[in-house]
Amino acid sequence: MWGGRFAEGPSAIMREINASIPFDKALWRQDIAASKAHVAMLGTQGIVAPADAATIAAGLDRVAAEYEANGVPEDWDLEDIHMTTESRLAELIGPVAGRLHTARSRNDQVATDFRLWVRDAIDQADAGLAALQRALVERAGEHAASIMPGFTHLQTAQPVTLGHHLMAYYEMAARDRSRFAAARARMNRCPLGSAALAGTGFPIDRHATATALGFDGPTANSLDAVSDRDFALDYLMAASQCALHLSRLAEEFIIWASQPFGFVRLPDSLSTGSSIMPQKKNPDAAELVRGHAGRIVGCLTALMITMKGLPLAYSKDMQDDKPPVFEAAGLLTLCLAAMTGMVEATTFRTERMRAAAELGYATATDLADWLVRQANIPFREAHHITGAAVKLAEGKGVALDQLSLDELRGIDARIDERVYAALSVEASVAARASHGGTAPAEVDKRVAEARAALGLD
Ligand code: ARG
Repeated sequence: MWGGRFAEGPSAIMREINASIPFDKALWRQDIAASKAHVAMLGTQGIVAPADAATIAAGLDRVAAEYEANGVPEDWDLEDIHMTTESRLAELIGPVAGRLHTARSRNDQVATDFRLWVRDAIDQADAGLAALQRALVERAGEHAASIMPGFTHLQTAQPVTLGHHLMAYYEMAARDRSRFAAARARMNRCPLGSAALAGTGFPIDRHATATALGFDGPTANSLDAVSDRDFALDYLMAASQCALHLSRLAEEFIIWASQPFGFVRLPDSLSTGSSIMPQKKNPDAAELVRGHAGRIVGCLTALMITMKGLPLAYSKDMQDDKPPVFEAAGLLTLCLAAMTGMVEATTFRTERMRAAAELGYATATDLADWLVRQANIPFREAHHITGAAVKLAEGKGVALDQLSLDELRGIDARIDERVYAALSVEASVAARASHGGTAPAEVDKRVAEARAALGLD
């Protein structure tokens, strides 16, 4: 393909280090599509004879059919998917195949193929996130009024509803989807026709190829177009943030499934056993989601470091752009599916959650709020009075609402019997009806909005 100026062929080491076909064969569909768009344009523009363009297009279809049937052959001498396809095309249709590479370079070719691949990966991530959101919304709707302890510092803080907790992850998934959508919109410009780095002297129509490949238009600067991998980094950034959210959700399930918590029974189908301890049911899928999230962030880091020192325009380092993106995409698809399955099939042990919410003086803030509202006491003073009540209850080993009225009035005489109504966990969550709060009525509203946004019911 390029041997004209060389006296001897590459060494075995050169062939091995140079070959990207073992991984970039994953781009074959995109490579065929981009070549077909390119040659159709060359024919229309009269850069190659229309009959030759038609022969090349038909030949590309034959190559694609072979790949579909038998896979892509891996010949290191052909370096990459672009050479592999062109070489097979030449075997099938003869020297006319050599006209395909007019007015393009592998530099704009790979930039185009890879963008097309990443665009599909974004669409796949979006579909996976939508499925996760549907699962979250279904379960949140079931549990809009199920009470559990809410935590800060993993210490019992205030009662919340399980529906509210699950809808927090719905919000994260919504932001993930908008990040992927923004990445997609930003990357949807076509590099094809930037050629090696400077553009081309042939009268090509870059708008035509861009449109044929579903891009919004051509890129504006040929140097930028062949050296830009921001689209891959944007994808990896969105994937990393999504993975981080999945990892946090996984971590919650791991904690909730532990025996002291006992908030959930994980589905058997997403758990494993122990070869020595017969009683064990381990949350391996969730743990692997947590682990894979680290690998996905590693992929982002890898490509950032590959790119950070590169001058314009193309350098071969950039061939290393594909493995981290392929790896991250595969892992993300798996993690999304695993967490969606877990949300769908986990049994929430609502009685244990509610019992846990009764512990740890979760309604202490409600006592302070009651003192503010009923007795017009400044919040800081109410906080202090409540602290004394908690101290007394803790010393006696009882809950706040198990203190007698006399005991409470001993702490502050302005307390009366109406306070007990405010100290139940039900009253506590019902009171938090501010927009976006945990009150069941609020959760119901958010769930209804989410169902409408997802096109459910
Ligand atoms: N296999 C190469 C890659 O993935 C294609 C571009 C090669 N360009 C070049 N000038 N050697 O980056």
